[in-house]
Amino acid sequence: MEVPLLDLKAQYATIKDEVLAAVSEVLESQQCVGGPKVTELEEKIASISDSRFAVGASSGTDAILNSLMSLDIGAGDEIITTPFTFFATVGCIARTGAKAVFVDIEARTFNINPELIESAVTEKTKAIMPVHLFGQMADMDPIMETANKYNLAVIEDAAQSITSTYKDRKAGSIGTAGCFSFFPSKNLGGIGDGGMIITNDEQLYERLLIMRNHGSKPKYHHKYIGGNFRLDAVQAAALLVKLPHLDEWSQARRRNAAYYGKKFTGTDVKIPYISPDCVSIYNQYVIRVPRRDEVAAYLSEKNIGCAIYYPVPLHLQECFSYLGYKEGDFPESEKAAKEVLAIPVYPELSDKMKDSVADTIVSFLG
Ligand SMILES: Cc1ncc(COP(=O)(O)O)c(C=O)c1O
Repeated sequence: MEVPLLDLKAQYATIKDEVLAAVSEVLESQQCVGGPKVTELEEKIASISDSRFAVGASSGTDAILNSLMSLDIGAGDEIITTPFTFFATVGCIARTGAKAVFVDIEARTFNINPELIESAVTEKTKAIMPVHLFGQMADMDPIMETANKYNLAVIEDAAQSITSTYKDRKAGSIGTAGCFSFFPSKNLGGIGDGGMIITNDEQLYERLLIMRNHGSKPKYHHKYIGGNFRLDAVQAAALLVKLPHLDEWSQARRRNAAYYGKKFTGTDVKIPYISPDCVSIYNQYVIRVPRRDEVAAYLSEKNIGCAIYYPVPLHLQECFSYLGYKEGDFPESEKAAKEVLAIPVYPELSDKMKDSVADTIVSFLG
């Protein structure tokens, strides 16, 4: 049975008329950048994320970049983060001129290990950037404790974890700023690129608004060097149609995860560990398996989608060689990179499809 890793057409079929009407409304208004749809989305995302302010962004990447730039992070600064994340987290740090300082992950959650952060703090450290990977939040209490002790900003990369919780607190709402991505594969995905920043800090909010418009305020007067980090109205309109479904979609992903959990009991497949402090939105369902590359090849042969997030930890990427890390520096991240495999978990999966995915893996492992 063919099972894709993600089937966005299945989701689109359920909301097509509404999306087309919403996009058409924007086109008729010809207010294509910013405007009421963007403002409405910002207010709604701030509200569901228990935060005071939200600022739309052109992508999750630009949400991170704007956050760093608005916090005046740049050359000479160090930012502590994880090497086991999507490239954008660290690419943005590097683009500001700041230096990424890595600490390893917790094996079970794939998220930054808070116990390792304090020893990485120097007088140059300006911020900690935890990443809430695959839909589950990092262990925020000890991270905030270290941040408060050394007066550091905390930028939550919540690109994969909108509305997930840690001790009943929403992703992005605990640190200084939280960044979301609306890339189409996210739980709340647009019809193109988009992102958002949330914060409770009014001063930071004002600065984020200025920075997303090339640092201009009033118009054509530039106190700062910002960028074009604006969200399109068409994206906001489509996201407003999808937003009311977000909880039911995440719930369906959790049901799929529970189903797999039962199917994999007693097998060699290690299922994702979700901390009792957390509710995951399962943006990805990532297992660990022996002979991972062979399993992946076998699944592809059987037309079952899977993916490796991420095959090369960032401290071993060629473009970051100047940071001076080497193989062996972050053993848990390196081990994860060799063992992880994401399998389909999208909301529209049927039980038959999940059976097919799980049975194929289990039968291959023998
Ligand atoms: C952890 C993480 N950070 C940042 C991003 C960047 O988001 P975008 O693709 O919207 O620029 C992503 C997107 O995949 C991500 O997964």
